Amino acid sequence: MIILGIESSCDETSIAVVKDGKEILSNNISSQIEIHKEYGGVVPEIASRQHIKNIATVLEESLAEAQLTLDDVDYIAVTYAPGLIGALLVGISFAKGLSYAKNIPIIPVHHIKGHIYANFLEHEVKLPCISLVVSGGHTNIIYIDENHNFINIGETLDDAVGESCDKVARVLGLGYPGGPVIDKMYYQGNRNFLKITKPKVAKYDFSFSGIKTAIINFDNKMKMKNEEYKKEDLAASFLGTVVDILCDKTISAAVEKNVKTIMLAGGVAANSLLRKQLKEMAEKKDIKVIYPSMKLCTDNAAMIAEAAYYKLKNTSKIEDCFANLELNGIATLNVSNENR
Ligand code: KG4
Ligand code: ZN
Repeated sequence: MIILGIESSCDETSIAVVKDGKEILSNNISSQIEIHKEYGGVVPEIASRQHIKNIATVLEESLAEAQLTLDDVDYIAVTYAPGLIGALLVGISFAKGLSYAKNIPIIPVHHIKGHIYANFLEHEVKLPCISLVVSGGHTNIIYIDENHNFINIGETLDDAVGESCDKVARVLGLGYPGGPVIDKMYYQGNRNFLKITKPKVAKYDFSFSGIKTAIINFDNKMKMKNEEYKKEDLAASFLGTVVDILCDKTISAAVEKNVKTIMLAGGVAANSLLRKQLKEMAEKKDIKVIYPSMKLCTDNAAMIAEAAYYKLKNTSKIEDCFANLELNGIATLNVSNENR
C-alpha cells in the first residue's frame, strides 16, 4: 500500500511516500525557518504563501525520489488540524486537487496523532502505552489502548513546552527556534543557577507560563541592575526545571496506568536532555522509552502517512477514515477526556 503524506500545518512544507506503513520511500521537507527567523517566530501569512510557492516542487521531488508516479498512490493523507488555518488550507486544497484529478481517496490526519505515529515507523510499538506529546503548540500526556484509542489524561493549562522554549530564547536573544539552542546551551551552563518554583498543577496537567515569566523577570532584573550573568546558566536552569516536570508526570502516569512503554512525540522530543533523563528514570521502573529519530521528531509528512495507515487498519467502518475532511479549521484532539 502506497500512501502519499502531505503536511503544511506550520512552517514546513513536507510530502512523503510511505510503503506498507513501514518503509519511507521519500520524506521531503522544505523548511521556512530561515525566512521566519527574521521575525522571531512564524508569520502565518508568509507561511501560507511559502507553502503555495513550494508545494508542487516538494511533491515532484518526493515522487522522483520514491521512483513512483501519482498513479502508484493508493491514498493521500493530509494534516487537517490543528495548525495555522491558511497554512493548513494550502495542504488540504492541494490534496483535494490531486484526489480529484487522479481519483485517489483522501485520509485526513490530526497533526498530533501524526507526531505520535512517527514512532511506529521505526519501532515495534507495544500497546497500551503512554505518550508524552511535546511540540510548539502542545503538551499532552495521552494513554493509548490496544485498539489505538487515544485518551487525553493531561495537558498544559497555558503555554506548550516548545512555545515557552521559543519565548525564553527570544527574550534572551538566542534566535528562532529556541528549543535546539537551549538544548545545546544546557551543557555549558549550571542547572542549579536559578531556583525556579515548580507550579502546583493537579495530576498530569502542566503549566509553563510561570516558569517562563520567572526567567524573563530574572533577565529584566539583571538588565536594570546593569549586572552581567551567563545566559547558559539561565537556559540550563529553565530546561532542567521543565524536563524534571515532564519526566516526573509522565512516569507517574505510566506507573498508574501500568504500562511498560512510554513514547515521546513532537518537536521537543528531539531534546537530548529529555530523551536521556526520561529513559534513565523510566528504566528504574522497568519501563521502556522510545522516541523517533531526530528527522521524524519535527514536522514531516512521513508521520502523517503513517497515522493514515493505522487509521485505515484500525477503523472498522472504512468511511470513518474519511470523516472530518471538511473540518479544516481548529479541531480538538479527537480523543476523549478522562475525568481529571
Ligand atoms: O512539532 P514541531 O516541529 O511543530 C509543532 O507541531 O509545533 O515542534 C516545534 C517545536 C519548537 O518550539 C522548537 O523550539 C522545538 O519544537 N524543538 C526543540 C528542539 N528541537 C525543536 N525543543 C527542545 N529541544 C530541541 N532539540
Ligand atoms: Zn508538529
